[in-house]
Amino acid sequence: MEKSYERLIMGNKKFALEKRFDDPEYFKKLSLGQRPEYLWIGCSDSRVPANEITSTKSGEIFVHRNIANIVVHTDLNLLSVVEYAVNVLGVSHIIVCGHYGCGGVRAAMSNNDNGLVDIWLRNIKEVYHKYHNELEAISDLDKRADLLTEFNVIEQVRNLAKTTTVQKAWLSRKLHIHGWVYGMNNGLIKELNALHDETEDLPPIFRYSVQK
Ligand code: CO
Repeated sequence: MEKSYERLIMGNKKFALEKRFDDPEYFKKLSLGQRPEYLWIGCSDSRVPANEITSTKSGEIFVHRNIANIVVHTDLNLLSVVEYAVNVLGVSHIIVCGHYGCGGVRAAMSNNDNGLVDIWLRNIKEVYHKYHNELEAISDLDKRADLLTEFNVIEQVRNLAKTTTVQKAWLSRKLHIHGWVYGMNNGLIKELNALHDETEDLPPIFRYSVQK
């Protein structure tokens, strides 16, 4: 019987063949380098693939994914991705994309002991705590989770604005940070908010005296 992973290797052969059939130079052109305009920070959930849900191609989106699309200021992995995307690739847009039905958000809302992942999800508990009045006014737990998903995205957009990488970029050029939520039930993205420069939505205590 065919092993389940072999399906992926076969799928890859099909992909490579089809791409070369459409454009014999496809891989040669791709291998010259990347110049994506977007950085995507999304959830690791297998149902939210950045390129597929935005009908974009290889080379168009630089991607970072983690559980529940969180921007943590001590996360060297994420900070390196942001720094590289902004300063080397020169992306113009950073998109934080959460999704309704996020297991990470639901776990953070509960009091269950989930082990190690709770350390990561603590970041969402802080978001819950910040907005607990609005959240606990909603008795339906699915709707409450949807709203927490939105608040989480908004807070992660703000967390990006609090990095010196973003603040330095804002000194010399436009860098837009978007907060989106993807609906798995209808396939559509809802736009929540966007920050365009340092004048917006950033309390003074988080502003660094960065220089070009
Ligand atoms: Co998720």
